[in-house]
Amino acid sequence: MSMPATSSDRVKVVSKLPGWLRQNLKVRTAQLGIEIQTAVEQGIAAWCDLASATAAVDTAGAESFSTFLPPGQWEEFRTMAEDRRVSLIQGLAQSVQLWLDTNPAPEIQRSDITRRIVVCNQKGGVGKTAITAGVGEALSEDPTCLFPVRVAKALTAALRAGDGQADTADNDPLDIEKLPGHGLRVLLVDFDPQCHLTNQLGAAPLAMNGDSLTNHMAGDPKGELRDLIVSVDEENFGGRLHLLPACHDAFLLDVRLSAVRAREAALERALMPLEADYDVIIVDCPPSLGLSMDAAAYYGRRRESEGPGQSGTLIVVQAEDSSADAYDLLTNQMEDLRNDLALDIDYLGIVVNLYDGRRGYIATSSLQGWIDIKDPRVVGLINDLKEQKEAVRMKKPLLSYAPASQQAVAMRALAREIS
Ligand SMILES: Nc1ncnc2c1ncn2[C@@H]1O[C@H](COP(=O)(O)OP(=O)(O)OP(=O)(O)O)[C@@H](O)[C@H]1O
Ligand SMILES: [Mg+2]
Repeated sequence: MSMPATSSDRVKVVSKLPGWLRQNLKVRTAQLGIEIQTAVEQGIAAWCDLASATAAVDTAGAESFSTFLPPGQWEEFRTMAEDRRVSLIQGLAQSVQLWLDTNPAPEIQRSDITRRIVVCNQKGGVGKTAITAGVGEALSEDPTCLFPVRVAKALTAALRAGDGQADTADNDPLDIEKLPGHGLRVLLVDFDPQCHLTNQLGAAPLAMNGDSLTNHMAGDPKGELRDLIVSVDEENFGGRLHLLPACHDAFLLDVRLSAVRAREAALERALMPLEADYDVIIVDCPPSLGLSMDAAAYYGRRRESEGPGQSGTLIVVQAEDSSADAYDLLTNQMEDLRNDLALDIDYLGIVVNLYDGRRGYIATSSLQGWIDIKDPRVVGLINDLKEQKEAVRMKKPLLSYAPASQQAVAMRALAREIS
């Protein structure tokens, strides 16, 4: 097989390819991070090298398809197709199919230890629940489909916006790339007695007199925790996105935990048996700094043999001054836990949510303030836009309600940034 030619050497060729084959080619090249023209070049070279043509491919409804090949390759291919008495369209379809058959989809990247992402901030209404759901949705999307992702680093945009020069409300189409989903098995844990995540995803809060995460954490289970889990059934998540709904009994969690031995480990003890079923577990924390927050932070600590930044806390803030005090309180609590219990609790980053550069200096200067912290760094910037609120109202996951919206595109960028 020849080395791929550089794009300047290549010549444009126009032929036809059935839509389904073109789609498969598009997805597989994105999965493998290869250019379409390189795949076609390799497919044609491999087809020409065979002793005879491969099985016929159904080319009904083939549409115009153009690509760039090294000089001379198309002529060689034409001759070969004539010799084999197949049409150019059939020969090209066979070449593309041959490439697909010999370049299978990559395996899903799974870590040995289930990653734990603890989404927190005791300040209310900053978007913890929205970010928990959005990141979980992005991580579970179909690996055989392509979804728009903002690839020009969110931070570059943030810095521009931080200078007051640009508003990230503009989605430059050049910054959007279609990439395959991660295909991970994700469990969202609604750890907030307000049950917002549960309600937003259209599930029902657990009954007060039944079993609940609180009961399991308090050492008083009434059954298997696994039996409480529901699936978020939207096509793009393929049965991989699950939710452990909350129960209003979690309002009493801190009281019930006060009688529990090694209570900071209570969430871990409860969730550990579920970990084998998931690649990622994301915990949506309540807006408080009590014992339950200690238990959540403990759950996100770095375990032995786990790399730094695999698990940890993701802090959601707003670009406004009142967020900064809340941030200091939270990071102090985290420091105390680290010191008192000698734990490694990694920060996965700061997400600036509900951003609107048009609000002027307060927004842009606070955003700059978050960026200037640098450690942890800003890993996501999500604008204040209507789709998130609409999705909540419709009780639908944002990424299936508005999959191409700017917010969905930014959630996918955030998911990539922290994975
Ligand atoms: N980027 C966004 N654009 C528009 N609306 C948003 C955005 N993020 C969150 N919201 C809306 O703001 C409200 C608060 O968000 P959310 O419930 O996610 O915050 P929270 O931090 O989880 O709140 P709480 O502290 O009460 O748990 C919700 O109505 C949500 O739909
Ligand atoms: Mg919430």
